[in-house]
Amino acid sequence: MAKSLHYLILLSLLAIVPSCFCEKSQGGYLYPQFYDHSCPKVEDIVWSVVAKAVAKEPRMAASLLRLHFHDCFVKGCDGGVLLDSSGSIISEKRSNPNRNSARGFEVIDEIKAAVEKACPETVSCADILAITARDATLLAGGPNWEVPLGRRDSLDASLSGSNYNIPAPNNTFQTILTKFKLKGLDLVDLVALSGSHTIGDARCTSFRQRLYNQSGNGQPDNTLNQAYAAELRTRCPQSGGDQNLFKLDYVTPFKFDNSYYKNLLAYKGLLSSDQILLTKNQDSMKLVKQYAENNELFFQHFAQSMVKMGNIAPLTGSRGEIRRICRRVNH
Ligand code: HEM
Ligand SMILES: *[C@@H]1O[C@H](CO)[C@@H](O)[C@H](O)[C@H]1NC(C)=O
Ligand SMILES: *[C@@H]1O[C@H](CO)[C@@H](O)[C@H](O)[C@H]1NC(C)=O
Repeated sequence: MAKSLHYLILLSLLAIVPSCFCEKSQGGYLYPQFYDHSCPKVEDIVWSVVAKAVAKEPRMAASLLRLHFHDCFVKGCDGGVLLDSSGSIISEKRSNPNRNSARGFEVIDEIKAAVEKACPETVSCADILAITARDATLLAGGPNWEVPLGRRDSLDASLSGSNYNIPAPNNTFQTILTKFKLKGLDLVDLVALSGSHTIGDARCTSFRQRLYNQSGNGQPDNTLNQAYAAELRTRCPQSGGDQNLFKLDYVTPFKFDNSYYKNLLAYKGLLSSDQILLTKNQDSMKLVKQYAENNELFFQHFAQSMVKMGNIAPLTGSRGEIRRICRRVNH
């Protein structure tokens, strides 16, 4: 009797313990059915507002997708990127990666207002960002995935985290990979998620260095197609025109597809951080070639990596709060 009881306890420990560790390391506190009873309409509400915003301005799909990334890489997916400056809070909106660049905040405000009306103080801004990123991808023609939910919102922002943790376009391959690894993401995640640059824009200031003086010798980046570089220089002069916009994927700028990887093979990646995925690392190069050939594989990996990115250090349980307005904490 005692023996079989011990056996039972051992069995249940074996059954429970590993799944707990495993869920913890994968951020498995989150699950897609989190709001099934408390706010069953949340996904419909988000979809309708995002669809309207993207119909009005196709680039908005890109801007909204990027917000989730800039949220998750700074102290986890906790809605921190959405906070305005107030009291002791210094907004991440003024960080180097975000200043004059991050956009879509009004769309998030509109979604939050509609969700609050249907289910007051129930759905976090962090979860709204995660659902919005999936919907934006889908509306641009990209893959679908189930979004794990149950994140809560931060009580503060981190300007320094935004400056240091989000990769810069002129960071080295190794620096960017390290910044991903610090968030629990790997090389496959890096190459797949960079495929986001199949939609949206970048400013002249984000890649000018490549056009004129890539490595301090007064020469353009020799991994940039020279005819393409000449074309880019016409609207991105050596000085001035900092905010001029360029398509990250000049072939199909509004379609979420694998043409980004095809551009890299033609040395027509816009950012240095894009092109180095082909030129600086053998494993990364292999993935670029695979995605350029196989759109399905790209979509599959992209969806998986988005779920992984969405699982970065969420606040759950009673940590953080459910903000009523995404731009400010409740008290
Ligand atoms: C791998 C490191 C990455 C670097 C260095 C990087 C850098 C950049 C830069 C410099 C821009 C242009 C900003 C501007 O000039 O205003 C940009 C735009 C964009 N990024 Fe990234 N990014 C990276 C990864 C990602 C990831 C992981 C995602 C999403 C999962 C993403 C989504 C986007 C989108 C959609 C845009 C266009 C936004 C718009 O048009 O409003 N990026 N990125
Ligand atoms: C990267 O770009 C920033 C901002 O334009 C610049 O200050 C920095 O010197 C550049 N770093 C390198 C290594 O080129
Ligand atoms: C290129 O950059 C280097 C180092 O940043 C600088 O010393 C040099 O004057 C620049 N050359 C040109 C042509 O701008």
